[in-house]
Amino acid sequence: MKASCRAGSNIAFIKYWGVADAALLIPLNNSISMTLADAHTTTTVAWDSSGILPTDTIVIDGTQLQGAPAQRIVAHLDRLRALAGVSHKARVLSKSNFPMASGIASSASGFAALTVAACAALGCPWDASQLSAIARQASGSASRSLFGGFVEWERGSSHTSSVAHQMRAENHWALRDVIAIVSARAKRVSSSSGHRLAATSPFTTARTLCVADWLATVRHAIAERNLSLLGPILELDALAMHGVMMTSAPSLLYWQPGTVAVLHAARAWREQDGLPVFFTIDAGPNVHLICEAETAPTIEKRLRALPAVRQVITSRPGPGPQLLDEHLF
Ligand code: PMV
Repeated sequence: MKASCRAGSNIAFIKYWGVADAALLIPLNNSISMTLADAHTTTTVAWDSSGILPTDTIVIDGTQLQGAPAQRIVAHLDRLRALAGVSHKARVLSKSNFPMASGIASSASGFAALTVAACAALGCPWDASQLSAIARQASGSASRSLFGGFVEWERGSSHTSSVAHQMRAENHWALRDVIAIVSARAKRVSSSSGHRLAATSPFTTARTLCVADWLATVRHAIAERNLSLLGPILELDALAMHGVMMTSAPSLLYWQPGTVAVLHAARAWREQDGLPVFFTIDAGPNVHLICEAETAPTIEKRLRALPAVRQVITSRPGPGPQLLDEHLF
């Protein structure tokens, strides 16, 4: 009744922002991401079949969760209990190797690791696609962390068809995500509330119309390992998503002065110094610089020299979730 899993976060090249069905978490558009090897969450789940545990106990990065943050995880455990037909409470302990809620998707790796560990501990025979659908209901981007390498989440039209699949394995392309942390504080508006606000932005329809073409280009760029094709679309969709965020009601402004400093620096390194590097940004202030392995050491060094940058984390493409023999308790 106990299992542990490590799952990587992921960085989206074409973003998920906005829901067609808020209850099932069916997105407005397909999204494409790279699973990260070096930004991951490890989770141990133990189900209490003896009935001694009165409630679920959830400890994340050393803090026992109460109230709303605990509720989101309890809701996911409820989903798993209903699917497996059990009523056991669970003990969950989880830790990530990167700052939470700062634009590195801790919900993606967190809910992927929780789903896989909880199902393994229950002995459920579900495959990765079924687990992707289950994880999606907790956090859309977690559906993509069920697979390694380069991953596409099909929008689909139902619970079972809105799932991710692997496009290419992690060894297909030695890309790097060099993450510039400009603020490690938790964001004030979570992405789960942000998705519902997307419908209020006049830019959402325009972005959704463009995404079909961008997806085709990104699929092709990944297949061909072509960064000069991928990079401009990466930046375009990150800016389009932040345009939607900024023009929602209420407006969401995740950027900090450090965000803008890194964007200008990355563009100058590319346009003036010829470095092949492109940016993307999730729902937070930190900037992800995407480049090939050979360029990453130069980008890291340059980022560390910027006063706005507090920390730099570099990640390779990573595998899908791994069950571990060692448990956190
Ligand atoms: O899965 P959520 O609800 O944390 O949403 C993730 C949203 C973005 O990170 C901004 C984009 C994405 O596709 O990962």
